[in-house]
Amino acid sequence: MYVKSTKDILDKANAEYYGVGAFNINSLEFLAGIISAAVIKRSPVIIQASEGAMSYAGNGDFRKGAKVLADMVRRYADNISVPVALHLDHGHDLDHVLAAIRAGFTSVMIDASAKPFKENVEITSEVVRIAHAAEISVEAELGKLVGVEDNVSVAERDATLVDPDEAKIFVEKTGVDFLAPAIGTSHGAFKFKGEAKLDFERLRKVKQLTKIPLVLHGASSVLEADVEKANSYGAKIEGAKGVPFDILKEAIKYGINKINTDTDLRIAFIAELRKSLHEKPSDIDPRDFFKPAIEAVKNVVAQRMDILGSSNKV
Ligand code: G3H
Ligand code: 13P
Ligand code: ZN
Repeated sequence: MYVKSTKDILDKANAEYYGVGAFNINSLEFLAGIISAAVIKRSPVIIQASEGAMSYAGNGDFRKGAKVLADMVRRYADNISVPVALHLDHGHDLDHVLAAIRAGFTSVMIDASAKPFKENVEITSEVVRIAHAAEISVEAELGKLVGVEDNVSVAERDATLVDPDEAKIFVEKTGVDFLAPAIGTSHGAFKFKGEAKLDFERLRKVKQLTKIPLVLHGASSVLEADVEKANSYGAKIEGAKGVPFDILKEAIKYGINKINTDTDLRIAFIAELRKSLHEKPSDIDPRDFFKPAIEAVKNVVAQRMDILGSSNKV
């Protein structure tokens, strides 16, 4: 079932204290794996596409790509009874936001987090006005996601995290539906140098002051088994570290409801692809390689649905 607005899924998760995975796609293969998991687990699911995904799906034309992705997701969702949402991940400008809305996405993210607070409020408010007129929901971000590659000190890193009082003002002024507060994660496979750690006290305050569904970006767990599998078939992924399951569960207790996951699916897919390419050197049918990779995506998503608490919520 294709929902009207992503809010339908996240308001329920907020009221019942569980998390819903938001999984990135660029192509049919990832969508097929995610949807299979959602059906098996009886879990609501959020599919998300970045600006880059829109462009990829449209062979360079992001407007066309937005329609291709929305049509594809809707077709898959129409035949099943679990709720499926489609979200624009990290929309940076009005052109991409409008393309997603026109294509039928059920929510958009406007990411003006790199801009000064006042400008972030102005841009987000404008997107909220447009998206709410189309009866869909909006996510915005406060603070910055700083990765280990950015090489900043602890004090510098802290200064990039969300300010809870600002979050309260931001939500009141913009009317945004979901907020992504920076609390110590970063995108990709290299999130922490030492021990994985998030600022739960900051998160608790943001939830207390805003009460809306909160989003954890950079939430991939970077599963060791998948990294090792990829490496054993020729990948070179060294020193990777993600957000462990117990920290994800803790974050959900403190008010996170949308858990963004892209990297884990990429690693699982690529590991399986490398394996089957190695094992079937004379096979030229791409489906023979994609099928086990889709299965690997399905398994990662299904496991996360159990961890986040969204399994059997339909
Ligand atoms: O947060 C970013 C997502 O992982 C999407 O990445 O821009 O490479 O599609 P992308
Ligand atoms: P990961 O890189 O941890 O999968 O995060 C994805 C994300 O935040 C998409 O917005
Ligand atoms: Zn993100």
